[in-house]
Amino acid sequence: MTHTSRAARRVDVCVPAKINLFLAVRGVRDDGYHELVTVLQTVSLRDRVSASLEGDLPFDQHPSVRRRMRISLDHDGTPGVPDGGDNLVVRAAALLGERLGMSAVEAVAQAARVQTTRLAISKTIPVAGGMAGGSADAAGALVALNLLWGGGLDVDELRELGSQLGSDVPFCLAGGTALATGRGTAVAQVLCRGAFHWAVGRPDGHLSTPEVYQAWDAHERPSTMEPDAILAALSTGDAEALGAALVNDLQPAALRLRPDLADGLDALRGGGALGAVVSGSGPTVLGLARSADHAVELADAVAEVLGRSQVASSPAGGPELLR
Ligand code: C5P
Repeated sequence: MTHTSRAARRVDVCVPAKINLFLAVRGVRDDGYHELVTVLQTVSLRDRVSASLEGDLPFDQHPSVRRRMRISLDHDGTPGVPDGGDNLVVRAAALLGERLGMSAVEAVAQAARVQTTRLAISKTIPVAGGMAGGSADAAGALVALNLLWGGGLDVDELRELGSQLGSDVPFCLAGGTALATGRGTAVAQVLCRGAFHWAVGRPDGHLSTPEVYQAWDAHERPSTMEPDAILAALSTGDAEALGAALVNDLQPAALRLRPDLADGLDALRGGGALGAVVSGSGPTVLGLARSADHAVELADAVAEVLGRSQVASSPAGGPELLR
């Protein structure tokens, strides 16, 4: 029997950002993470992750070639995007490669017969902005490389690997609208009707998620709040009720570190937002609009005080294959 099909030599995946419509911190866990109850939704800001095999080694024909793999990373120069092994996509590649029996080799490997997988990221999601940009990229890399390398892992297996990379990665692999508990990695889809329109305020600078959690530790108390109002608003598609029910227990901690974000929230509220909230650990701020046109107005208002803004709609799906 002859084998005629060749594996893909390039896979491109689009991955959406996430927002937390509800985020309650229940306390600190034994492993040092915080126990969360959170409702997440993907929004229409997307990064693109590409994975390609370089050179003309017969990757798909000779299993020995895939035992060692050189990984390289390019990105579009967006400030703050980590290089090399500091980037979650490279860590995703190493983790998946290890799971598939490959070993990653450094760029200056002596052996000529080492295949190179080139990863490239093109960013739209704010970097370290509280919208899971790094986690979305890691989810995209897992999906792309599982296909490129013929890994054959199913969604549950990818999700398990994803949880080792970051708390938001399992949700980013699924997308849509979900309730997550534990570290944020136990994810169950929930009903969402309709679409929502957002202004996304993007101040300069980043916030470190561990530092925001440390500020929460120092100044905040565990919350017992339940997400019932959010889940009800989502199930009926009621934007007004959704806006009134937005909750983020990390917001006071983020505002301690970045008091200027309060001006962004005020601008959104002053512009008639149905609700305004810091996104995750910040510093991105979100305003829920009454319509797509209203989102543009709110985006202008928040850009005046925070510098930059975008509009987005939700929910978006999960990672999407482009080729
Ligand atoms: O899981 P991830 O690596 O994305 O988390 C980044 C940091 O955020 C952790 O190192 C931890 O400080 C904090 N974190 C937490 N509890 C969570 C999720 C994140 O304390 N549930």
